[in-house]
Amino acid sequence: MFAGKYILSPMVRVGGLPFRLTCLDYGADLVYAEEVIAQRLLKCTKIFNETLGTVDFLDEDGGVCFRTTSKESDKVIFQMGVSDPDVAAQAAQMIEHYVAGIDVNMGCPKDYSIKGNMGAALLTQPQLIKKILCKLISVCSKPVTCKIRILESEEETLSLCKEIESTGVAALAVHGRTRYTRSSHPCNYDIIQKIKSVVSIPVILNGASLDINNRSDMTAVMKKTGVDSIMIARAAWYNPSVFRDPEPVSVREAVQKFMKYCIDYECPLHILKYTIGKFRGAFKDNQSSLEVTRHIETRLIYDYFGLGDYEVASKRTGDIQEEFQKKKRQK
Ligand code: FNR
Repeated sequence: MFAGKYILSPMVRVGGLPFRLTCLDYGADLVYAEEVIAQRLLKCTKIFNETLGTVDFLDEDGGVCFRTTSKESDKVIFQMGVSDPDVAAQAAQMIEHYVAGIDVNMGCPKDYSIKGNMGAALLTQPQLIKKILCKLISVCSKPVTCKIRILESEEETLSLCKEIESTGVAALAVHGRTRYTRSSHPCNYDIIQKIKSVVSIPVILNGASLDINNRSDMTAVMKKTGVDSIMIARAAWYNPSVFRDPEPVSVREAVQKFMKYCIDYECPLHILKYTIGKFRGAFKDNQSSLEVTRHIETRLIYDYFGLGDYEVASKRTGDIQEEFQKKKRQK
């Protein structure tokens, strides 16, 4: 399942259902969903949304925490942020029937993760990592993976990877930067190549976006390092059709596909804007997409991309979620 795959990397706010479906349409083999904190999922209520044809996990205040549909159920990996094995197991049991696999985020360097003993905080606690992964594997009927960053020394990194392998995970995704490395710095391909030589589970390389403009760039990185699969975040955000064989489509075409899915699945408007704000060259003028999307009215964006009629006809504009988010922000 994790060999020879071109994979969408998890991205908070970006990697919701519309973005995942867009990447799948363009040729991604698997899509990792944005991280959800396991404790948050446990407080959610599951509903079958018959209007949209989705399964929704709703927060206590009615907002969507995780939305999925059968269109992606054999391709989507649910990623959780977690520090407690039992909580991880409960969250996995809640979600496993609707997804293709479960992943644990062991790379997030953000304050909230570190303070919660999650994400990159786990990297220096191999015993806890093992407890979480072994527990998950023991209760879960779907493959379990984890996504790590490299540590400061090669020795520590290789030893951690071997410990992780010993839990029985289905694959290991490795971001070739430490928790202190800036994302503008090069990815450390050498260490990932070494990891591949010391473990026998599939290794998924992550962190290569600076070197990726199309699918053949991804293939070249896989060949160069000998890894099993590649997982891309920012290059997919710039243009989700980067997965397309042999070449991406124009950014405008990719935006249109993404926006249709946003309309179909009631994506909150602020997420839509935030996401296309990074699509490279989405707007013709000299302003950056980010600047334009911040200031432009959403309706004008629909019109700009020729989707005004589609949006009006669908009557599913995401307004409900947007209103909800607005109220939440005002509180
Ligand atoms: C991320 N990243 C990330 N990683 C993760 O494991 N879970 C997550 O939810 C997120 N969220 C997230 C949001 C955004 C906006 C970005 C840009 C990144 C990290 C990401 O998955 C990936 O590891 C890095 O971006 C490096 O890969 P690329 O960008 O070089 O392909």
